[in-house]
Amino acid sequence: MSTPQTILVLGSGGREHALVWRLARDGHRIIAAPGNPGMAGLARLVAATLTDAAAIVRIVAEYEVDFVVIGPEAPLVAGIADALRAAGITVFGPGADGAKLEGSKVFSKQFFARHGIRTAEFRVAATVDDGDAAIAELGGELVVKADGLAAGKGVVVCSDAAQAQLAVRDMLQAKRFGDAGGTVVIERRIRGREVSMLAITDGKRLEVLATAEDHKTIFDGDKGPNTGGMGTVCPGWTSTAAEQRIVQELLLPTVAGLQADGIDYRGVLYAGVMMAPDGTPWLLEYNCRFGDPETQSIMVRLQGDFAGVLHGAARGELPASGLTWADGTAVCVIVAAAGYPDAPAVGDPIRNVDSTPEATVFHAGTAIKDGKLVSAGGRVFGVTALGADVHEARRRAYAVADTIALRGKQLRRDIGLR
Ligand code: GLY
Repeated sequence: MSTPQTILVLGSGGREHALVWRLARDGHRIIAAPGNPGMAGLARLVAATLTDAAAIVRIVAEYEVDFVVIGPEAPLVAGIADALRAAGITVFGPGADGAKLEGSKVFSKQFFARHGIRTAEFRVAATVDDGDAAIAELGGELVVKADGLAAGKGVVVCSDAAQAQLAVRDMLQAKRFGDAGGTVVIERRIRGREVSMLAITDGKRLEVLATAEDHKTIFDGDKGPNTGGMGTVCPGWTSTAAEQRIVQELLLPTVAGLQADGIDYRGVLYAGVMMAPDGTPWLLEYNCRFGDPETQSIMVRLQGDFAGVLHGAARGELPASGLTWADGTAVCVIVAAAGYPDAPAVGDPIRNVDSTPEATVFHAGTAIKDGKLVSAGGRVFGVTALGADVHEARRRAYAVADTIALRGKQLRRDIGLR
């Protein structure tokens, strides 16, 4: 294990709680900014605005931080990693140039095309006329994506041209996602089953993490609108051979492409992959940070020197030793607020939030008000358990998720049942 370090984790969601939990387990001193109430026993919580680089530099100096882990995409896309590096700070997370892989769908699709990385055929449109022309040209089932960040909601899967035209108008004319939808990508829909593969990179090599499978829609049976993710299973459903194909055919060419484009990428490459029925992996998208809630189920299985891997990647020297994985299966069940994803209720009191030896409650959207725990976001908790198999992990996670008292709470009952 690396010698104890002081690590600043930026963010306040379930992903960051899981990162803090895992790093603290190895004896590191953790500062979380701004953090959340669930981290209070694991980390020193410090108020901060994540796009205020000067404030973060001051926190680093005050708490003698060894390195910074940036959790969410917004500060990465805003160039906070660049600002911290310019101040001489060691940072895990790509600069604004690399974060464009997530921050701009147009950039990422053009990057894939330029570097021969298999992805669905696509067109870019900034006007309704161009959108309609692209829809007519591509034909069949399509996916319409807002170019910029849209909290996981900017992707509309369309079964016919009429739906695609509606989605284009919703984004380009009605400005459903504001400036993020000022340009859209229209691409052919690839049928298959999705898997999330995350890899840590120093810009040259990869440390590939165990796969995970997300459950993106709000309702059981993959029904209803998309959310940020309602639950995950780790490992995902793919075979070792399939995972090798993802690494060889998608991830490694991406690292080579980043190098060819002069992008020094130090952080997570999170590939959203569609495995076609014939076993071919297609790259749907990249995220430039750990997945949420993939990270919750990944962290409870991750063994080895995690801080050493993050620190090595941040310095551009990923260690050769690698990570290992606990046997069994991890399941994360999201407990979401009433009204999520469209209009989540916030400020509701919460009771019975207790981790057990068998399941950990990661806080995602909570706050303390008048000394009491209240909801403060759409996804409120990610209850995560490791079991000998998916059934045991599900039993353990749901046993705790079901005891949480939150008015109108929503949770899918089919996490891990695919
Ligand atoms: N689980 C989806 C995401 O992290 O974007």
